[in-house]
Amino acid sequence: MKKKSIQTTLTHSDYVPPPGFAAYPTAIHHASTVLFKDVASMRCGDWKDKSGYTYGLHGTPTSFTLEARLAEIEGGAHCLLAPSGLAAIAMVDLALLKSGDDVLLPDNVYNPNRELGRWLTSDFGISARFYDPMIGSGIAALIQENTKLVWAESPGSVSMEVPDLRAICAAAQARGVLVALDNTWAAGIALRGFDVGADIVMQALTKYQSGGSDVLMGAVITRERTLQDRIAMAHMRLGMGVGMDDAYLVLRGLDTLKLRFDAHDAAARKVASWLKQRPEIVKVLHPAFEDCPGHDIWQRDFTGAGGLFSVTFDARYTEEQTDRFVDALELFGIGYSWGGTHSLAVPYRIQAMRRDWPDAGILVRFNIGLEEPDDLIADLEQAFARL
Ligand SMILES: Cc1ncc(COP(=O)(O)O)c(C=O)c1O
Repeated sequence: MKKKSIQTTLTHSDYVPPPGFAAYPTAIHHASTVLFKDVASMRCGDWKDKSGYTYGLHGTPTSFTLEARLAEIEGGAHCLLAPSGLAAIAMVDLALLKSGDDVLLPDNVYNPNRELGRWLTSDFGISARFYDPMIGSGIAALIQENTKLVWAESPGSVSMEVPDLRAICAAAQARGVLVALDNTWAAGIALRGFDVGADIVMQALTKYQSGGSDVLMGAVITRERTLQDRIAMAHMRLGMGVGMDDAYLVLRGLDTLKLRFDAHDAAARKVASWLKQRPEIVKVLHPAFEDCPGHDIWQRDFTGAGGLFSVTFDARYTEEQTDRFVDALELFGIGYSWGGTHSLAVPYRIQAMRRDWPDAGILVRFNIGLEEPDDLIADLEQAFARL
C-alpha cells in the first residue's frame, strides 16, 4: 500500500522478519562474516548494488533497512551509512574530488567541514574556496573549469541564515557541477533536499534521527545510480561500516522523528520569542522569524524549524559575562551537537570563524530539547540575572 503521509512512512517499515516470526522492530543482525550457501553464490555477490549480503562492512538486514527508510523519507533512491555525519561529508569529498579539482563551501558551513576543506587544500592538491551562502544564482560566477562540487547547508547551523538552494542548485547544475546539501537541520522532515534540486543529501543522524544524544552516524542519499556507485566505491575503500546496535537505535528513533521534531520546533519558537524581547539580546537568529536572513526562502521551501537557533548578545556584554550566563544555566547542558531531548547552550566565537560576520556581540546557540518550555524560560531568566 502507498504510504500517505510522512508520519505514516516513519512509523511503517518494509522490514520483513524471518519466516514464522512477526513483530514491528527491525532485528539487530550482527555480522562481520556473511555466509554464502556455496562458492558460486559467493562469487556472484555484488556488494555495490545492495541486491545481496556480502560482508558485514557493506551491511546486514538491519543497516539495509535503515538505508532504505532514510532514502524513502528524503525522497531519494539510494543511501549509504557512515560512522558519523562528518565521516559522511568526508566520504562525499573523497568520492567526487581528486587532485586538481575545486570545491565550493559556504561561509556558514559546519566548521569541521570547513576544516576538511582547508586540509584538502593544504595536503591533497584540491582547492576549497568559500562563498557567501546568500549568493543565490551568483554562484555561477565562482564556478571554474575544475569546480566539481558545491556544498550547501540550510540554514547555517550556527549563523542560521537560509540560502536560496533552488538558485544555487540550478546555477551549479547548469555548469555540470554537483551540489551536496547538508540537510541535518531539517532532518529530511522540514525540507527534502531533492525537491530543491540537490544531487546528494547528507544528514548527521546523530541529531534528530537518533534523538537520544547517544549515537554517532551519518547518511549520504542520492537518486542517481551512477552517482551512488561513485560514493559506494569511496564507502568501500574507506571502510565506512557502522555498528548494527547503533543502526537499530536510529531505526527506533525514526518512528517518533516527526513528533519529536515538531515538539522541538514549537518549544524553540516559544523560547526564542521570549528571548527576542529581552534587552540583553540584539538578535534572535531563527529562520521562522521575519528578520532572520533568508526567512522568505525558509517560508518558500521549509515546512518547519526544529529546535536549533542562535542569539546575539548586545555588544556591551563581554565574553566573560556571557560565559557566566551560560554557566549559570541549570537545565541547559553545555555541549556540542543537538536534536536530543536535553536542551543545550554553546557560545561560539563566530567572528573568528566568519570573514564577514556583521555583529560584535557574543553568539550563543541553543538546542531546545523536550523539557517544558516555561521551565527553560525560567532558567534563562535566572541566568540573565547573573550576567
Ligand atoms: C550541520 C552539521 N552537519 C554535520 C555534523 C556532523 O555530525 P557528526 O557529529 O555525526 O559527525 C554536525 C555535527 O554537529 C552538524 O552540526
